[in-house]
Amino acid sequence: MIALGSDHAGFPLKEEIRAYFDKTGVEYRDVGAYNTDSVDYPLQAKKACDLVVSGECDKAILCCGTGVGMSMAANKVKGIRAAVCTDYFSAKFTRLHNDANVLCLGARVIGGGAALELVRVFLETPFEGGRHQRRVDLVNALDKTE
Ligand code: RB5
Repeated sequence: MIALGSDHAGFPLKEEIRAYFDKTGVEYRDVGAYNTDSVDYPLQAKKACDLVVSGECDKAILCCGTGVGMSMAANKVKGIRAAVCTDYFSAKFTRLHNDANVLCLGARVIGGGAALELVRVFLETPFEGGRHQRRVDLVNALDKTE
């Protein structure tokens, strides 16, 4: 189960991803936005990330204009490791090495075709573990620092 969210700027891209999920049978929870009316991205980021942290969703995909605001907001939520990606290599290796659980995309930065490739590789790539587990543990430990 994938949490899917956007603000107004990310809404068109979210809809493309939603159509892709419908076509390929990926289950998702759409936390909005549901149109292009202006909305504040941290609110959608929080809704989607809460679903990941609670275990109701395995991962989240968040779209805004750049992907940056969504990633900043998502990474404030304890237990979230969000990555904003514009290229295939980063989307793949943030799963292999960082065990990222949220992918953030910029609808004003990349087109739908490229974005869907990033979504696909992000969702199908497992975490490699091994030496990377120690580093992810160290990242997670930063949640506890003031
Ligand atoms: C909205 O105009 C825009 O600021 C937002 O979508 C996002 O790009 C923020 O990082």
